[in-house]
Amino acid sequence: MSTTIDISDLILKHRDRAVVDGLSLTIASGEILVVTGPSGCGKSTLLRAVAGLRPLDGGTVTADGAAIVGTSRDRAMVFQDDALHPWRTVRKNILLALQLRGVPRARRSAEADRWIAEIGLDGFGDHLPRELSGGMRQRVQLARGLAGAPRVVLMDEPFGALDAQTRASMQQLLIRTLHAHPATVVFVTHDVDEAVLLGDRVVVLGAAGEPVRRVVDVPRPRQASPANDGARAAVIEALTAHNTLSTPQETNR
Ligand SMILES: Nc1ncnc2c1ncn2[C@@H]1O[C@H](COP(=O)(O)OP(=O)(O)OP(=O)(O)O)[C@@H](O)[C@H]1O
Ligand SMILES: [Mg+2]
Repeated sequence: MSTTIDISDLILKHRDRAVVDGLSLTIASGEILVVTGPSGCGKSTLLRAVAGLRPLDGGTVTADGAAIVGTSRDRAMVFQDDALHPWRTVRKNILLALQLRGVPRARRSAEADRWIAEIGLDGFGDHLPRELSGGMRQRVQLARGLAGAPRVVLMDEPFGALDAQTRASMQQLLIRTLHAHPATVVFVTHDVDEAVLLGDRVVVLGAAGEPVRRVVDVPRPRQASPANDGARAAVIEALTAHNTLSTPQETNR
């Protein structure tokens, strides 16, 4: 089961400056929407608003028609900065996510073990986050985010810190998991190949305050093909259309 997210005339400000200014976008139930754009254009700010982690300065964000006013167990977040409970082991971090999402107690232990294996951390279940490398912590975050089949998954550059090989296997794990348990996904990345691999659509945001620059439909099946090359070229063209860096001076209003 997944959720439709509707964003309408959204305004988000930092220190009186609009970083998202009049954004409207509907994310269909079960869709993987990738958001990309230059550094500082407001991707993380947008994601935090959809998560219910910050107030809106204008417009509305709804999940299946209900205004998002705070965080919800239905919406999982996998963010850049890692947010594992530092005093809980890998296994207990994952068990907690399963519990919060209502997985029956009898199934939790086996589910946690399956996730630990999926993310390549067999033997690390009893480790605390501080006893892991950054990339390992990031993988635990992925498992914690996806465990228990949330309806919405919000991901802010979740694979940015991983080496290429681990990144590729995490992308495949994400695809497999979403295939088995569809969710509505908003995925932020700077990586154009990752955007085209994962996204059903790719939204390219402009500089802070600039409206959506382009929305690119990615043809399926999900694999490298000449059709995907077209989507890739369209994303790159939109990214490089004009200034690629947003600075406060340029966008002051
Ligand atoms: N806590 C804050 N206080 C003031 N300004 C902020 C704050 N967080 C973000 N900003 C400003 O809002 C703008 C958008 O920031 P945001 O983090 O959403 O960008 P981003 O698109 O996620 O960038 P990146 O690709 O570098 O992660 C930036 O200009 C930034 O300086
Ligand atoms: Mg960001």
